[in-house]
Amino acid sequence: MSKHMTRKATRHVNQNEGLIFEKSSPGKAAWKLPPLDVPDVDTSKLLGSFERKTLGNMPEVSEIEIIRHFTRLSTWNYAIDLGMYPLGSCTMKYNPRVNEVVSRLDGIANGHPYQPEKISQGALRIIKTLSDCLLEITGMDAITLQPAAGAHGEFTGLLMVRAHHESKGTARKKILIPDSAHGTNPATAAMVGYAVENLKSNSKGMVEIAALQSQMNEDVAALMLTNPNTLGIFEQEIHKVADILHAKGGLLYMDGANMNALVGKVRPGELGVDVMHLNLHKTFSTPHGG
Ligand SMILES: Cc1ncc(COP(=O)(O)O)c(C=O)c1O
Repeated sequence: MSKHMTRKATRHVNQNEGLIFEKSSPGKAAWKLPPLDVPDVDTSKLLGSFERKTLGNMPEVSEIEIIRHFTRLSTWNYAIDLGMYPLGSCTMKYNPRVNEVVSRLDGIANGHPYQPEKISQGALRIIKTLSDCLLEITGMDAITLQPAAGAHGEFTGLLMVRAHHESKGTARKKILIPDSAHGTNPATAAMVGYAVENLKSNSKGMVEIAALQSQMNEDVAALMLTNPNTLGIFEQEIHKVADILHAKGGLLYMDGANMNALVGKVRPGELGVDVMHLNLHKTFSTPHGG
């Protein structure tokens, strides 16, 4: 990379901030309360053995040092106002700000996984409603909202593929990937520990059925089909592709990152797709990383 490119690639973010502990010096304090007109409380009675005798290793800094430190750190947060997002990069580059406002609502942004169920009902309802809608749209049987992006969804999906085969007593070795697939597909397969085998497209830019027939065997765990594929073409013989895989115990994975092109037209679950992911930050314009 040239000097010029390095400068350009890093100019949005300033990461020259040291630790707040490095600014600490004994006796410095950000704020001291003035004498208060309230009776003293015996804290040892209130807290018993939980009362701290010392504050331990805490930085001692002035108010302005704290403000500047955290303000500078906040510039490390990459934001759409600073540059292009590398997530969902190939289609949507801008998602409505109003969706970010919604995701920042207190009940959503401040929810905690260990929060008692009783006070998590609103969040659980959102999760359930969203899951039901996505199942209706995709025609699949079950869903997880855990993965944070497309490639993460692929990784989760392929771990499920592997678990499926292991439960049948054989892990299988390969994933078939058409040459029109999205680049994250072979990367995911390799990360899950599979060998990647390339599958040629036909003259129309779709999966070449004859090639699939000859390459499919009991070593193949799944085929990862990007639809519409990276050439922008809709695969037309998905039923056939699914049948060929299923006949030899393989699974059909669909990369549904660009499901916006299919919503309301066709449900992948009815095409014979076994596992798929959606990019909510693309098809449904949620904030990135959803
Ligand atoms: C077809 C396809 N698959 C996977 C991905 C990866 O998604 P993400 O960038 O959210 O990891 C993308 C887009 O970026 C995509 O277009």
